[in-house]
Amino acid sequence: MTYETLLTETQGRVALIRLNRPKQLNALNDILMDELGAALTGFDADDGIGCIVLTGSDKAFAAGADIAMMAQKTFMEAYRGDFITRNWERIGTVRKPVIAAVAGYALGGGCELAMMCDFIIAADNARFGQPEIKIGIIPGAGGTQRLPRAVGKSKAMDLALTARTMDAAEAERAGLVSRVVPADKLLDEALAAAQVIAGYPLQAVMMVKECVNRAYQAPLSEGLLFERRGFHSLFATHDQKEGMAAFLEKRAPRFEHR
Ligand code: HXC
Repeated sequence: MTYETLLTETQGRVALIRLNRPKQLNALNDILMDELGAALTGFDADDGIGCIVLTGSDKAFAAGADIAMMAQKTFMEAYRGDFITRNWERIGTVRKPVIAAVAGYALGGGCELAMMCDFIIAADNARFGQPEIKIGIIPGAGGTQRLPRAVGKSKAMDLALTARTMDAAEAERAGLVSRVVPADKLLDEALAAAQVIAGYPLQAVMMVKECVNRAYQAPLSEGLLFERRGFHSLFATHDQKEGMAAFLEKRAPRFEHR
């Protein structure tokens, strides 16, 4: 597929999506979000893909929603059009893992987009923040909800109220990112992690994602029950028999994703 604002490729069972509006530091406009929704939908439906990496450029993952696009918007347009539901929730409905590989700025909607992914690998030059307050608005795509869950109330308040940004080391300490790597290794590391994931039985991978996400939406007792039933169901799969047999026979498993 050819897109105006994205570059996509596949490497074996891994799909790579690059945001590609370099002149605007990958500011997120309607075209980009529509194309991102389409690309994610396509890879999610593709049986040959087991994991997706979403990245930007060396300078910016995304510097936020496109301010030029928003500047003249009226309340009526925002409210009646339910700005910004348009394809923003799509990323949260992808059932295969999506890794955000973040270098440079991940601000405002860019930080929110990264947080909608399943985990974030950050380059050592990454900067995260919710600076919307500086332009008279507040985060609108989950920044006031996902950020406190990731880093706690105090730091989320600090970031959203002062508009300061945090560097990759602080983001890792706070639990927003899973690992920090040298900027020139970011894509290699993210793709390597994605290859590892894509090599595992897809149904188990998807079940892990569903279960971990339950931890944010359900009381502990419900989440634990959901996990246990998922755990039970994997005993119906070929790959469970193969994985355990391979371990006992001291050989590499041959997973068939079924
Ligand atoms: C539109 C943007 C942009 C944005 C940068 N650009 N961010 N255009 N929307 N969010 C454009 C600039 O206008 C400029 O275009 C070019 O990208 C390079 O940016 P510079 O500012 O010249 O670069 P630099 O000095 O390196 O500063 C980088 C920066 C700064 C710190 C990231 O650009 C910045 O503060 N951007 C805005 C960040 C922000 O406020 N994000 C939140 C947006 S609100 P020209 O044409 O001059 O070269 C939001 C709400 C989300 O995200 C709501 C839910 C979706």
